[in-house]
Amino acid sequence: MRAVNHWDHWIEEELGRMAEQDLTRELRVVTESAQPVCLHEGKSLLNLSSNNYLGLAGHPQLADAIRQAIERGAGAGAPSSRLIVGHEEETARLESELANWQESEATLVFGNGYMANLGVLSSLLGRGDAVFSDRFNHASIVDGIRLSGATHYRYRHRDVDHLETHLKKADQKGIGRKVIVTDAVFSMDGDLAPLQEIVYLKERYGAALFVDEAHSVGVIGAQGRGLAHELGIAEQVDLHMGTFSKAFGVYGAYVAGRREWIRYLIHTARSFIYTTALSPVIISAIRRSLQLVQQGDLLRQDLARKCLYFREELSQCGFRLTHSMTPIIPIVLGESSTTLQFSRRLVECGILAVAIRPPTVLRGEARVRFSLMASHRDGDVQEAIRKIGQIGHECKVIT
Ligand SMILES: Cc1ncc(COP(=O)(O)O)c(C=O)c1O
Repeated sequence: MRAVNHWDHWIEEELGRMAEQDLTRELRVVTESAQPVCLHEGKSLLNLSSNNYLGLAGHPQLADAIRQAIERGAGAGAPSSRLIVGHEEETARLESELANWQESEATLVFGNGYMANLGVLSSLLGRGDAVFSDRFNHASIVDGIRLSGATHYRYRHRDVDHLETHLKKADQKGIGRKVIVTDAVFSMDGDLAPLQEIVYLKERYGAALFVDEAHSVGVIGAQGRGLAHELGIAEQVDLHMGTFSKAFGVYGAYVAGRREWIRYLIHTARSFIYTTALSPVIISAIRRSLQLVQQGDLLRQDLARKCLYFREELSQCGFRLTHSMTPIIPIVLGESSTTLQFSRRLVECGILAVAIRPPTVLRGEARVRFSLMASHRDGDVQEAIRKIGQIGHECKVIT
């Protein structure tokens, strides 16, 4: 037998420590994961954990687009990064369709949202610059900031006064290059960034503004253009990021903005330059999905109606909700152990909803995060609310 080395020992200890704090995570095998009801170990589970908000991941038109792309001879994989061999016509068409939809001068497709955030932040910012970031921004934003080496000013969640205090501090230090970055919809709370106030501060203090619309494109506003468009301030946002992995039901991401900014990213964003392009088959599916997203106003209305009902019912049961305005609807339970127990009971009762624990959320703020899809049946949602309430009583988190 191989001797246990120092690293094996350390990893075992770390995993043991996580288990003691109820922070262990498991990978689960599921089938039919694009559907509102999926299967796990032969059991049907109502999928209340998916980012596939409009139900497009399982849409027959996307399967058609993929089939047609293969029949046209599109490869399963791209030949290289885009700056080496180049890209197919489909990619150029997609980027111009995205620009039309976003009413921006140009867009650039990235491998995924994580890479887009890393690329944008590390190419705009460097040592000596300042970045102002909501404390609850997504991990990919935090990692992009780390990679940039810029001074990181974290402001309290949605607190524009705190943001302004930091902007003033940076001005006093004579820092000229400033970027404000925020999620439009916060992924663990489902609430919205105060974008209008942020735009006011960005202009007052001469900062650039980068908005991550991962959970808002496809879900918010006419044609699913996202929160900045819905608020009428899209032009004041310098760069927008949106993913294709959530409401679009595919994979990948884009950044939209002024032409020269996008040209600059092509020259400097390392997570764009040093990686193979998205598969042409995926690009075709994204193009089809963009059409469905643009035509999806009725789906969005139906989703919004379901979300309102779900939030109101859970609140009436006595659960502590966040200020969610979106299909992300968490109930905050506090301790990781209670949250884990709650989530396990949900699975036993046929509901898939994960326990979100530190470090993803703050200590003492562990939660079960539900997310709704337009394709959920009303009857299934009603039945889920009944079961969630019952488990709430069992676990003594409501009275
Ligand atoms: C707010 C936010 N930004 C970025 C990402 C990363 O996007 P992707 O899944 O496309 O990498 C996610 C989710 O994963 C997210 O929730």
